Amino acid sequence: VNRKDRAFWERQQQTPLYAALTRHTGRSPRPFHVPGHKGGRSFDPEGLERFSAILPLDLTEITGLDDLHQAEGVIAAAEALAAEAFEAEMTRFLVAGSTVGNIALIMTICRPGEKILVQRNSHKSVFHGIMLAQARPVYIVPAIDPDTGIAACLRREDVERALQAHPDAKALFLTNPTYYGMGTDLAKMALLVHRYNIPLLVDEAHGAHYGFHPALPPSAMQSGADAAVQSTHKTGTSMTMTSMLHVQGERINRERLGQVLAMLQSSSPSYPLMASLDLARRHMVFHYAAEAERILPQLALLRERLSRLPWLGTAVCAESSVYSTLDPFKLLLSLRSGQLNGYQLQARLEERGIFPELAQTGHLLLAASTGTSPEDLEWLWRALEEISAGQAATLATLPPSGLLASAYLREQAVPMEAAVYAGKRLVELEQAEGLISAEMVIPYPPGIPLLAPGERIDADAIAVLRELRAGGARFHGVTDGRLERIAVLEKV
Ligand SMILES: Cc1ncc(COP(=O)(O)O)c(C=O)c1O
Repeated sequence: VNRKDRAFWERQQQTPLYAALTRHTGRSPRPFHVPGHKGGRSFDPEGLERFSAILPLDLTEITGLDDLHQAEGVIAAAEALAAEAFEAEMTRFLVAGSTVGNIALIMTICRPGEKILVQRNSHKSVFHGIMLAQARPVYIVPAIDPDTGIAACLRREDVERALQAHPDAKALFLTNPTYYGMGTDLAKMALLVHRYNIPLLVDEAHGAHYGFHPALPPSAMQSGADAAVQSTHKTGTSMTMTSMLHVQGERINRERLGQVLAMLQSSSPSYPLMASLDLARRHMVFHYAAEAERILPQLALLRERLSRLPWLGTAVCAESSVYSTLDPFKLLLSLRSGQLNGYQLQARLEERGIFPELAQTGHLLLAASTGTSPEDLEWLWRALEEISAGQAATLATLPPSGLLASAYLREQAVPMEAAVYAGKRLVELEQAEGLISAEMVIPYPPGIPLLAPGERIDADAIAVLRELRAGGARFHGVTDGRLERIAVLEKV
């Protein structure tokens, strides 16, 4: 941060988009434009009390407020400041989350039938992007972390093998960090991928804060990636649905990217949401490091305390780990008690007012941030200590959840793009072994498809899905939300 000059700090003080909105409301305008609530004048009275501060800012593309899809005024200025802060050459604000950023990147890079190298444990939006682009995925299976059984990062040797085997691939798309906070050495990955002269695209949904404190890994932009999509709303400080897409170098066609984003995003993007990106950028530049400095030692203390509970393990990045970075804000607990699984621990914590990010059979994921208070951490520790009282007696190592331990690679019996639009029928999950999936089966969270269209359903997949179903997991992408039945290809 100290390499930045005075002019940088002066520029970054500005919030051109937010300032334009507040300036406009200060003029007591008479709105003859959408939205119909007209600053809250026609709005449900009960909701008005809470919404009233925001509604006057809920404006649209009127004079002085620019246009996200053709930005040349205050939105362009806000995006330029974000590019400077996040060390990109160009930044685009997104109002449909990282989902739209991932889809747009793939549609920018791939024409129908073209190959793209993809980390198999990617978020569903990456698969949806491939479907929409009608591209051909070449999956690379991640290393599985032996301590937790969780699918982590790609190994460089696997990536190099794929690059050699598929010289016609148009890009490598990987996720860094993963939902669980695990990351790879991105700078080395970028060098490798660039030797083959294709772009490195990074789903950095969970790394919007990377590079903003010395204890955090460098960001994808700092590591030399060509494009990165960040959910500023997840680990940064903006409102839900707001993300940023950063680009640098010449390998991404920026004009096409703009066209694709215009096709995919609303023509009426929310100004309060976009302004929250403008404010989050300023807040992160000026305050993120200090806020992180206050809470990171408390998180370290909590980890130390947790190490005293034998029924709980916490992920630790060591020399021997299959990942090389770990987000200190993510607290991944592995349950070693035979008495309590992840779903049950979640319920016990929720009884005490603590709401985790995700539960699985053998794990619980807690997402802290610079918004977490020392009191939150103390409350969590007390709750775990209390729950601990009943746990010590029987210590058993739960087998890591099959979902996580299972290799993500299944036989791609039919190309994904053919399977998506083929005829399908529903069969009982238990009867599906050997048949070909016609749908994406996505346990949510974390939103990583266990089955993709065209993959052959094997006994392992059925066992894992049954386990998840019994644990009460939710499924996206499926016809039958309870997953008693699964859609398979009609013919084959
Ligand atoms: C790895 C990963 N990528 C992308 C996304 C999509 O992000 P968003 O919710 O901002 O659309 C998620 C959301 O959970 C995710 O976990």
